[in-house]
Amino acid sequence: MRKSFDLYFVSSNSHKYKEAKSILDSFGIKLGFFKLSLEEIQSNSLREIAEKKAKNAFLKCKKPLIIEDDGLFIDSLNGFPGPYSSYVFKTIGNKGILKLISLKRKAKFVSIITYCDKKTLESFDAKLDGTVSKLQKGKGWGYDPIFVPKNSRKTFAEINNKNESSHRFKALKKFSNWYLHKMESNGQ
Ligand code: IMP
Repeated sequence: MRKSFDLYFVSSNSHKYKEAKSILDSFGIKLGFFKLSLEEIQSNSLREIAEKKAKNAFLKCKKPLIIEDDGLFIDSLNGFPGPYSSYVFKTIGNKGILKLISLKRKAKFVSIITYCDKKTLESFDAKLDGTVSKLQKGKGWGYDPIFVPKNSRKTFAEINNKNESSHRFKALKKFSNWYLHKMESNGQ
């Protein structure tokens, strides 16, 4: 019998899970949700944060899993909020970010997906260039109402095909190639 899930997505953020599930479905990978709030270490490296989170998640979930860590890096703020994006969103939010930026609005979203099982810890990163809009537009979660991906005039919150081009999609595509190859090599 086919198992119901291939691996778990450990996070407290159901928006991220829904997007990741839909993306991995398209690659034939079944993703379950293990809802858990993971402590984040303070570090300038998203990879370091992600790998620590994944190891902690494995202690709780005890099944093959992925976790995701993201950051919004704004050029004119020397990459701020970057690894501190979650804290900045909770404290000053999109309104606060818009107040901080003047003319130069270039930014990028970075996603790190870290896979963890008993023996393996492996990370996959991707970035998506774009700009920060002048006003919040559309109804979306997190920074979606202020992030305009390159070659678009609309924010993530206004487009309906975010999952075909986002930072999350790009990182999960890299992960899927690796994961499916690993499963094939293991004869699964
Ligand atoms: P985290 O630390 O990985 O949870 O993410 C950092 C911050 O970026 C959080 O406030 C998230 O809500 C936000 N974030 C991550 N990915 C996205 C996205 O795809 N759209 C909007 N906000 C996002």
